[in-house]
Amino acid sequence: MKRIPFHNRERELNEVMKILEVEPSLITFIYGPINSGKTTMISHLIDQLPEEYVVFYINLRGRFISDYRDFIRVLFKIETEKKYKEILKTISEISAETLKFSGIPVAESVMNALFKEKSYEDVFEFLEEYFTTIAKNKRPVLIIDELQVVGDLKINGLLMYKLFNFFIRLTKELHLCHIFAVSSDSLFIENVYSEAMLDGRCRYLLVDDFDYETAAALVEGHGFTDDEKAVAWEYCGGKPVCLMELIYADNREQIAKDMLKTRVTQLKDLLDYLDYTKPRIMIGDDEYLVEKGDIADILNRFVDTEYIDDEGLNRPAKHFLIKDNILFLNPHTGIIKPQSRLNLLAIREVLKDV
Ligand SMILES: Nc1ncnc2c1ncn2[C@@H]1O[C@H](COP(=O)(O)OP(=O)(O)O)[C@@H](O)[C@H]1O
Ligand SMILES: [Mg+2]
Repeated sequence: MKRIPFHNRERELNEVMKILEVEPSLITFIYGPINSGKTTMISHLIDQLPEEYVVFYINLRGRFISDYRDFIRVLFKIETEKKYKEILKTISEISAETLKFSGIPVAESVMNALFKEKSYEDVFEFLEEYFTTIAKNKRPVLIIDELQVVGDLKINGLLMYKLFNFFIRLTKELHLCHIFAVSSDSLFIENVYSEAMLDGRCRYLLVDDFDYETAAALVEGHGFTDDEKAVAWEYCGGKPVCLMELIYADNREQIAKDMLKTRVTQLKDLLDYLDYTKPRIMIGDDEYLVEKGDIADILNRFVDTEYIDDEGLNRPAKHFLIKDNILFLNPHTGIIKPQSRLNLLAIREVLKDV
């Protein structure tokens, strides 16, 4: 089976390493369009980390979390009492390897106690002690991927606030543990961005699609001809997942055109659907109806440009397009662009008929 090796994320990885080399003091939000390579970069980072680190990676993608128990279940991973003790011993004694865990290993008895407590304060207190023990001779790193999954979850108040408070405690107050929160959801990141409690307590790291040089180097490494290289950039831009499709393909131009055709059909279907229905969208606590005309107005702006300014757009339509993964908003710059080059081309193609 052909497997494509990890491709250059030098700039982003350097930034992460710089963060990891100093005492934790801010929460780091890693954001970017869907399929830009955030999770892949994190996995690569975990593989490469020097031996003084202990990494806990938790991916919330596809996890169903509706209450306290679900939350505890995704955060922790039960180990038999014996193995848990061994892990603790390893963490506190061995310094010659990087330890990596998916989920935070605990003994079943601990898990049961946490289930019974039903209070975040106790969970966070337990974790604080846990990380304090590790920090005695290792450097703990907690990475939560797809954090937006618990973005709206209310369990005795909004869970997210309690999490943020806990993250601030581990970083800014105690300098105990590095925290990375990853998300593709730009509306979630926009909320984070405007959240007063995080002001001055976090930083943002964009992992975007590859730039031209990086994308070109990738496909050149896989024997693309100049024509194929041009096709790759025209259809995929720097979207890793799209470039992978072409790398694996026999007839690259045909596959690129097929991918675009699929995207065009999806967008046409969506616009057709909007002829019959006005979807409802929540912004804060208020509900709005999405009008097709407003959607078309926003999409029309991409006919002769790749990026638009966030200002002055119809908000429900904008939220709808972002939620539907057609557009990506960078809250840091206030710039909106299609989620991918294919989306941009599809928008232009479809608007010819609207
Ligand atoms: N740096 C990279 N090198 C090689 N392949 C990559 C790289 N980044 C992303 N990919 C490919 O793109 C796919 C989507 O990336 P992923 O990390 O899941 O995106 P995200 O987490 O940003 O949504 C991966 O499964 C992988 O095949
Ligand atoms: Mg991901």
